[in-house]
Amino acid sequence: MRTAVVTGASSGIGAAVAERLAGSWDLLLVGRDEARLAAVADRTGGRSLVADLAGPDGVEAVRAAADGRVTLLVHAAGLGAAGPLADTSAACVDELMQVNLVAPVQLTRALLPTLVAQRGHVAFVASIAAIGVADEVVYSATKAGLRGFADALRLEAGIGVTTVLPGAVDTPYFARRGRPYHRRFPRPVSPERVAAALVDGVRRRRTEMFVPGWLTLGARVHGAAPALFARLSRRADPH
Ligand SMILES: NC(=O)c1ccc[n+]([C@@H]2O[C@H](COP(=O)([O-])OP(=O)(O)OC[C@H]3O[C@@H](n4cnc5c(N)ncnc54)[C@H](OP(=O)(O)O)[C@@H]3O)[C@@H](O)[C@H]2O)c1
Repeated sequence: MRTAVVTGASSGIGAAVAERLAGSWDLLLVGRDEARLAAVADRTGGRSLVADLAGPDGVEAVRAAADGRVTLLVHAAGLGAAGPLADTSAACVDELMQVNLVAPVQLTRALLPTLVAQRGHVAFVASIAAIGVADEVVYSATKAGLRGFADALRLEAGIGVTTVLPGAVDTPYFARRGRPYHRRFPRPVSPERVAAALVDGVRRRRTEMFVPGWLTLGARVHGAAPALFARLSRRADPH
């Protein structure tokens, strides 16, 4: 069986991706919480790797375990932060940058020779925040960075690259960032729906998918008319 590495596999979207891949892939499941990760490993027949991606040692541990074998690399680990930029601590900025952006870039870089040799595929869980969300400025920057990295890698590397950009997803993400989801619209979707889109996107070698699909419209407006997008966003969610 081909090997898939899934980061963030101990919870939410990453755990749902692992469940979706189970049976067809040899799974290497990466997370920090040993007990939750072991439970997902039990359900999916995968192997657990406890690693903290907030530092180079964790990234190196994943590389060492995956090198020479990985065919599919799914970057689902990540965390959020909400609040005005002026109230965001320097430590929080560093952690978001490291886990959401630096770790996936470094891990992809380190595993690229194997992925190329295996004619492999990388999938990134970005976010609709990649097009800019007020009160989530640093988070938005990490996800825009991830999207840009994926777009460039797709041109350069000769491997499959899929980016999934979900809107709100019903996972522990919001509780962990310390602020519940507050918008009436759009309603959160299930992590299983995001996982199904991601796995289908990898199978069809799709480049980019918004979940739910209608969020694509926001991204098109943002791309074609950024000033109009900013006006509409401020009106929909005034700060
Ligand atoms: N939920 C949403 O509304 C939403 C929307 C768009 C995009 N996303 C993105 O989707 C991805 C998954 O989030 P989720 O919603 O599934 O949230 P979640 O349930 O909180 O899961 C986050 C995962 O990331 C892992 N993680 C966090 N910090 C880590 C670190 N320092 N080292 C290693 N692993 C770490 C967690 O591991 P442990 O639990 O073991 O600590 C967990 O497995 C994230 O990249 C997030 O930005 C989420």
